[in-house]
Amino acid sequence: MEIIPVALADNAYPIYLGENLLSQKHLFEPHIQGTQVCIVSNETVAPLYLSTLKKTLRDRNVIEVILPDGEAYKSMASAEHIFDRLIDNRFHRTCTLIALGGGVIGDVTGFAAACYQRGVDFIQVPTTLLAQVDASVGGKTAVNHPRGKNMIGAFHHPQCVIMDLNTLETLPTREYRAGFAEIVKHALIADSSYFDDLVNSVDALMNKSPQCLHTVICRSCQIKAKIVSGDPKEQGERILLNFGHTFAHAIETCSGYGTYLHGEAVSIGIAMAADLSQRLGLLQPAAKRRILDLLQHVELPIAPPPELTLLQLKSAMALDKKMLEGGLQFILLQQIGHGIVKKAVLEDMLDETLIATGCKLS
Ligand SMILES: NC(=O)c1ccc[n+]([C@@H]2O[C@H](COP(=O)([O-])OP(=O)(O)OC[C@H]3O[C@@H](n4cnc5c(N)ncnc54)[C@H](O)[C@@H]3O)[C@@H](O)[C@H]2O)c1
Repeated sequence: MEIIPVALADNAYPIYLGENLLSQKHLFEPHIQGTQVCIVSNETVAPLYLSTLKKTLRDRNVIEVILPDGEAYKSMASAEHIFDRLIDNRFHRTCTLIALGGGVIGDVTGFAAACYQRGVDFIQVPTTLLAQVDASVGGKTAVNHPRGKNMIGAFHHPQCVIMDLNTLETLPTREYRAGFAEIVKHALIADSSYFDDLVNSVDALMNKSPQCLHTVICRSCQIKAKIVSGDPKEQGERILLNFGHTFAHAIETCSGYGTYLHGEAVSIGIAMAADLSQRLGLLQPAAKRRILDLLQHVELPIAPPPELTLLQLKSAMALDKKMLEGGLQFILLQQIGHGIVKKAVLEDMLDETLIATGCKLS
């Protein structure tokens, strides 16, 4: 088992990465202060892993909240449902919430933990590749608003993150691929040799080679942990982790939550950000081609849905948190392995990128 530290001044916590961790009581024990535990999961993940986790925590007073599956349930209504169950069961401030599932469950559970009685403990048990390499680390929690993704949220760090590699065995291929988009993002913003290694090992990774998977999850978590430790509240470098996401969130909002998987939207967003980077004279054309080739190799999309218009996408982008703060500000690539923040991007350039990558004019 690997232990990756997330070194925060106030809330340092470990990421445990290994096999069969769900049944290892000694990993959970030191991170649960009271007797009351609420496991939040969904209708897909609970039948697979809830009983193992409940057995591990059998000495505690455990309740469960099983939400319907899907991005549409990363909502205020789901958070309220969790609050209702906690209040019904007289859960107090020393309780611990455990998120058992992908990024949707992690985000909504973390958000509920941040709000309930002004903040209670929670543990992330991510069961998708995307949540293991990205969503479960860094303390961003949120629910969606019908007009904007992740609009309502809080920074709230977990007590620990427990990543059981065996849970990925049941993950559908499409979901597994979607996780790869966030992995590519980490390499692109921070580490060119990681990108080279991904190009060389992509087939083994897609075949779920345990050794390869372990290495990649570990490397991605180390990159994310390092950036988050240096900038926990996203006042500087952490914004780089949003590479591709201004486009991605707008695509998700325009297409209706759930049409594209988050990782698929991120893949399209990476393609758009790479195009804009090249258009602004930063990224070399050959480097852009390498990025698109890697995404396409694993059959991730690199163009938006054909019906999406320039205007629709731009109005959704205007709501993005990063855009509101900084006008037309984008996270772009200077080169592979080096992300930068570019302010005052000309609207014409953006339009050219959106059209070139597949948006309809009207
Ligand atoms: N907080 C953050 O920093 C952060 C970062 C990136 C993404 N996110 C959020 O994460 C969400 C996407 O996460 P996701 O891709 O994990 O999606 P998800 O949570 O919807 O999970 C994907 C699907 O896989 C199923 N599933 C989960 N684990 C499984 C398993 N082991 N076996 C079989 N099926 C399983 C789920 O039920 C779901 O149907 C988005 O809402 C995104 O905004 C958050």
